[in-house]
Amino acid sequence: MPIISVDNPVASLELSLFGGHVLSFMPKRDNRQRLWLSPKAVMDGSKPIRGGIPLCWPWFGQASQADLPAHGLVRNQMWQVIRVDDDMDETRLQLQPKQCSGPGFVHSAELTLELLIGHQLSVSLITRNTGQQAFTFGGALHSYFRVSDIGKVKITGLQGPYQDKVQNTLMDTSPSPYCIAAETDRIHLTQSADISIVDAECATQLHNQGHDSLVVWNPWQEKSAHMADMSANGYQQMLCIEAAITQGLELAPGQSHTLKQVIA
Ligand code: BG6
Repeated sequence: MPIISVDNPVASLELSLFGGHVLSFMPKRDNRQRLWLSPKAVMDGSKPIRGGIPLCWPWFGQASQADLPAHGLVRNQMWQVIRVDDDMDETRLQLQPKQCSGPGFVHSAELTLELLIGHQLSVSLITRNTGQQAFTFGGALHSYFRVSDIGKVKITGLQGPYQDKVQNTLMDTSPSPYCIAAETDRIHLTQSADISIVDAECATQLHNQGHDSLVVWNPWQEKSAHMADMSANGYQQMLCIEAAITQGLELAPGQSHTLKQVIA
C-alpha cells in the first residue's frame, strides 16, 4: 500500500493512504517514536492496520448491523492527499477518503483529515454535512501510543465515571493512580482535554478536542494471543488513548465538526 513520508526540520511522519492512517511520528527534539505499530500489522489493505492512528468514522465500535465493519467505513478504504503546505517548522497535509457514504451511513458528508506535523502532531478529523438533512455520526482517533513497559505506565488527567467494557459495568470513579495491569477497555464519558502518559522513557502528552469520550484500551496477553496481528508481547509496548465520539453527534446541514488530538 502506498506510504507517504514527511521529513521536515523538526519532525518525521509516515502515513499509509490505506485508511489515511498515520503509522509513525517522531519529533526531532528527542527523536523518540510516539506511536506504536504492531510488528504483525497487516499492510496489504486486506484489513485495518494494527497500530498508529486508525480513523474510526462514522461510527465507533460495533455497528448497528452485524454485517457492517467495526469502527466505521474509512479505515478500510483508500484516501487521497488533497493539499500539502510546507512552512519552516510545520508541514500541513490534508487528505480525504475516496467515499464518505456506504452501507450504514447514507448521508451527504465530507470528511477531511488534517495533519499539522511540527514539534507536535495535530490530528484533526473534520466532518461536514454537505446535505439538506441533519445526520448523526460518531468516530474516534484510535491512537496507539508507544510505552516502554505497560506495567510501569500511569495515565494522568482522567477522572470520573467510565463504562468498563471488560467487566460490563459502569464504574463511579477512575482509578488513582491510573495504572494498567490487565485487559482494559474503558469508555470515559468526559470532555477532559489534557491527558499525560507518564513513562520514564516514553512520556507522551495529549490535548483532545471535539470528543465526548476518551477510550482507554489494551488487549493484554490472553486477548492478544487470539489476534493474528498482535505479536506475543506487543501489548506490553502499547496503550491506546482515543479521542472519541461514542454517544452520537448530530450535525445540521452546512455545519462542520472537528475531532482533534494533539500529540507531543
Ligand atoms: C477499542 C474498543 O476502541 O478498539 C475495543 O473499545 C476494541 O472494544 C478495540 O477491541 C480494537 O478494535 P479493532 O476493531 O481494531 O480490533
